[in-house]
Order: sequence, then structure tokens, then C-alpha cells
Amino acid sequence: MDIKGKNIVITGAASGIGRAMARRFHAEGASQLVLADLNADGLSPVAGEVDGTAIPTDVSVEASVVRLIRQAEEACGHIDLVCSNAGIMVDGGVENATSDWQRIWDINLMAHVWAANAALPAMLERGEGYLLNTASAAGLLSQIGSAPYAITKHAAVSLAEWLAITYGDRGIRVSVLCPQAVNTAMATGREGGVASVDGIIEPEELCNSVVATLAEERFLVLPHPQVLDYMRRKTDDYDRWLSGMRRLQARYQEET
Ligand SMILES: NC(=O)c1ccc[n+]([C@@H]2O[C@H](COP(=O)([O-])OP(=O)(O)OC[C@H]3O[C@@H](n4cnc5c(N)ncnc54)[C@H](O)[C@@H]3O)[C@@H](O)[C@H]2O)c1
Repeated sequence: MDIKGKNIVITGAASGIGRAMARRFHAEGASQLVLADLNADGLSPVAGEVDGTAIPTDVSVEASVVRLIRQAEEACGHIDLVCSNAGIMVDGGVENATSDWQRIWDINLMAHVWAANAALPAMLERGEGYLLNTASAAGLLSQIGSAPYAITKHAAVSLAEWLAITYGDRGIRVSVLCPQAVNTAMATGREGGVASVDGIIEPEELCNSVVATLAEERFLVLPHPQVLDYMRRKTDDYDRWLSGMRRLQARYQEET
């Protein structure tokens, strides 16, 4: 997909990766940009910068996601690309309160489900449409120190796979964005440790991978190409991979 002339919805657009994608898509000549975020104050200036429409949205609420897609369809005529990008981090393991599990589950997974469910009917009717879901390298590998993040991001990758399999022959393209560390608010305070293994990239650099991968309509967007080698190692010898991850965790614990 060539971004030029396309109508695009982006969630989590007030900061970080979502904001960088909005700026980059504007520079690439996108037609209409509909930007959503829980942070309405942060969203307005970004929308102003890219001549976009700001729609304050809480992606943890199904009705809010459905309203976003409907308003975008009305404003644009049709949507070419939905970037379901908003996400959160919850540290810790299985001891997390059920309410914290539910919150990250709703934002990191269900928001993608609701966005797809709302956008697909019109896309299928037109015989074309593109879904770009932001997961993480944690969704392919794991996340040291955060079970909720690792698990919800795996689920997000799995959903993207399922959508690509199910709708790929009906004109729907699906990509899943799986970066390692990116220099955004989410990564603040995590610059050392695991994030430093392969380096932290700027969100603008990540956008080069996004635009190139969308142009080729390939599934995996990997701003850190090493992730593909790690995936191969994981599937090649699971136990060896788990030992390596335990070593990485020990190194991380020493540093923090
Ligand atoms: N920064 C990283 O290192 C990194 C790495 C891999 C994946 N990701 C993923 O990239 C995506 C974007 O994160 P980021 O790094 O730009 O962080 P960020 O914190 O800068 O941006 C996340 C945005 O999502 C918004 N948001 C949070 N909850 C929301 C809700 N309920 N409804 C609507 N908006 C909500 C926030 O207000 C914020 O603007 C996330 O899905 C994240 O998991 C980030």
C-alpha cells in the first residue's frame, strides 16, 4: 500500500509511535488522518500539525472504538488503513490484580478486536482495506519482567495472524508492528537493561520500517531486524532459547 492519498485512522496518536506515524503519513501525502487517543490535550496539537481530525477515544471501551471507526467512515467516506496502536505496559507477573490484567487485556488485545470488527464490514464490501496492529517483539519472544505485556502482545500477534489468514483472500491486508525498544514515554526509565541489548531506536526511524513494509504488504514489521533471528532460535530449540532468556533476565536484575 502506498500511503499517498489514503484515509488513515491511528490510535495512540497523541505521543510516541502513533504521533510519529501521523507525522510520517502526512509527509507521505496521506489524504485524511483521523487521530485517536485517551489524552485529548495531547492529541489536538498533533492533529493540528498534520491537518488531521482529533477524536478523543478510550480504546479500552468497545463503544468508544466503534464510535471512532464510524466517525472516521463518515468524515472520510471510507477508511483505507486502521493503525490500532495504543498500548500500555503493566510490570510484574501473575500476582497482578485481576483488574490490572483486565485493563491491559482490553487495551493491548481487545481494542484490536473491536477496531477490526468495526472496520471490516465496509472494507470487505469494498474488497480492500488494511489493518496495521501494533504488538511488540515481546509478542514474538517475551518480555522480561512483565507477564501481562508478553501475554497480551502474543495475543495481539495471534489475532493479526488470524485476520491475515481469514481475510487475506478477500482483499484485506494485515501487518503487525513488532519493535523492540523505541524512545517513547513507554520506554522512559527502561533505557538500560534489556532495552539496551539491541539499542533503542527513535520512533521516526521505526516509521521507515512501517512505510517500507506497508509498501510491500508484508505481515511482519520489524524495525529491529535481529528479532527474526531470535524467532528462528526460539523455534529451533525452545529449551536453549529459554536458558538464554533466563541469562538475559539475570543480567537485567543485576543492572536494576
Ligand atoms: N516504546 C517501546 O519501546 C515499544 C516497543 C514495542 C511496542 N510498543 C508499542 O507501541 C505502541 C505505542 O506505544 P508508545 O511506545 O508510542 O508509547 P506512548 O506511551 O508514547 O504512547 C501510547 C499512547 O497510547 C495512548 N493510550 C493509552 N491508553 C489508551 C486508551 N485506553 N485509549 C486510547 N489511547 C490510549 C496514550 O495516551 C499514548 O498517547 C503500544 O502498543 C506499545 O505497546 C512500544
